[in-house]
Amino acid sequence: MSVKDFTKKYYVKRTNTNCVKWDASKAQGLIPMWIADMDFKTDEHIISGLTRRIEHGAFGYSLSPKDYFDAFIAWHQRRHDVTYDKDWIRFTSGAVDGIVQCLYAFTEEKDAVLITTPVYPPFSGSIKRTGRTLVTSPLLVEDNYCSFDYRDIERKFKKKNVKAMILCSPHNPLGRVWKKGELEELFDLCQKYNVLVISDEVHGDLIMPDQEFVPALSLKKYHDNVVSLSAVSKTFNLAIFYHSHVIIPNRKLRKIFDDMQYKYHKEDPNEFSLLASYYGYKHGDEWLDGLLEVVYDNYKYLYKRLSPYCDILPLEGSYLCFVNFRDNVEEAADFLKEDCGILANPGESFGKGYETWARFNLATSHAVIKKACDAIIKALDK
Ligand SMILES: Cc1ncc(COP(=O)(O)O)c(C=O)c1O
Repeated sequence: MSVKDFTKKYYVKRTNTNCVKWDASKAQGLIPMWIADMDFKTDEHIISGLTRRIEHGAFGYSLSPKDYFDAFIAWHQRRHDVTYDKDWIRFTSGAVDGIVQCLYAFTEEKDAVLITTPVYPPFSGSIKRTGRTLVTSPLLVEDNYCSFDYRDIERKFKKKNVKAMILCSPHNPLGRVWKKGELEELFDLCQKYNVLVISDEVHGDLIMPDQEFVPALSLKKYHDNVVSLSAVSKTFNLAIFYHSHVIIPNRKLRKIFDDMQYKYHKEDPNEFSLLASYYGYKHGDEWLDGLLEVVYDNYKYLYKRLSPYCDILPLEGSYLCFVNFRDNVEEAADFLKEDCGILANPGESFGKGYETWARFNLATSHAVIKKACDAIIKALDK
């Protein structure tokens, strides 16, 4: 489907719908380019499947859709050439809940957990709230491209006795889709120092042209010390269902995780969450392919308009674009809010030293992106 057709069919005004992105008090009156949430209706199969279920009208205890796991497994095979076993899959109430549960299950209080920064802020939040010790390793951003600092990571693994690392793959906010070789180098280090990898792959379906997403568990030799988090909450804009999966190939780790879930009485997901994801996995390819074209088109447009003024990282994956306003501004988010009327996520919320950066959400219409670019260029030209 063309970018125009997709937008015409799925773009939806979200004001006055209790929408965080558009209706939260801090977003009002501003062009909202913050938070990872799209301005598009989800795939019709998901909507019609849920509608049928609601219209049935009886909401007593229910079973999972029979072929839920088949649909989940087929999706990952089809889109990412990775094979998951049904027995490896566990449910959590969202990806952040998955991270927290993994930390409770696989690490002890005060254990050191490493993240590479900048990164999605709840990574550090989860480490702190579970009483683990936060260890950070800055990513290298050179010539507008970002990579792991393996030497620093190894130093920290050794010195801080790190027990686990939370990986963001693809990376929010840097937009990187890690290459196989990069992951292998990282996972070799993790294996050497016995560091469990918790690979957050919720952006794994949002892959731009000519990029290949490598799911951590497609690398079989690391199965004993990698677990991954996967969901279609970002893929199909289903955040309100709070539904995600932890995939655990190692049997001992699965037992530890199951014991933790049993102890804390983790319920099975509710039927609406299962159904929403199920219809996405089963029928959502065409919708997703259309969305990816819209996002990439928006990225190319934003790049063309703003690159004379700013550093814009390549968008390999996700619909989130990280932009450095350099010495044009002191604090990018303040400049965007005060001078441009735009709400974007401040760079420093992802890591120290990123004050002149901001994260833009590109999952919206071309018209919104154009309005934002116009406002930024007008303010910068002043
Ligand atoms: C990397 C990453 N993980 C997790 C989440 C949140 O997922 P959930 O709402 O399922 O907790 C986000 C949301 O932006 C994210 O970017």
